[in-house]
Amino acid sequence: MARILLIHHSPTESTRRIADAALAAADLPELAELAGGELELVEVAALEPDIDQVLAADAYVLGTTANFGYISGALKHFFDTVYDHVREPTAGRPFAYWIHGGSDTTGAEKAMEAITTGLGWTQAADPVVWIGAVEDSHLEQVTEMTATVMARALE
Ligand SMILES: Cc1cc2nc3c(=O)[nH]c(=O)nc-3n(C[C@H](O)[C@H](O)[C@H](O)COP(=O)(O)O)c2cc1C
Repeated sequence: MARILLIHHSPTESTRRIADAALAAADLPELAELAGGELELVEVAALEPDIDQVLAADAYVLGTTANFGYISGALKHFFDTVYDHVREPTAGRPFAYWIHGGSDTTGAEKAMEAITTGLGWTQAADPVVWIGAVEDSHLEQVTEMTATVMARALE
């Protein structure tokens, strides 16, 4: 069984829709067929980091709002807690991420890239990053990105 963690901070109604779109990847028939019941997508609140849970997973999908020119404090707290403990054992594992902002996501993107590069994780799909309204097209991209990471976890 491959386990993918969906680690996110989605504090508003519109960002909750993004997290739900990521979770919807687990219900895609084509992925279910490929996985044959061997894939599990587990939702993790960024404010509740668990080192053992990160170590035991096979891949990661990260999601955050942009806040004060950085990733959310919640996701930063997650990485602050687990980083040193998981850096070597999880190196090479696949990941992808979304960032939603209201005006400028530059700092959040830079932080996400720096942290995941430091962890040595392998980007398995293009990130989905945008500002403003959450449209169906964004949700579809997040579902597809998550499905791609899940498929990679099977390899
Ligand atoms: C305290 C605070 C700081 C924020 N800082 C940024 C920021 O630096 N860059 C940005 O693009 N959006 C910023 N935002 C906007 C959030 O990213 C946005 O509200 C969030 O993605 C949720 O989207 P929604 O308000 O459309 O639901 C900030 C929001 C808050 C509340």
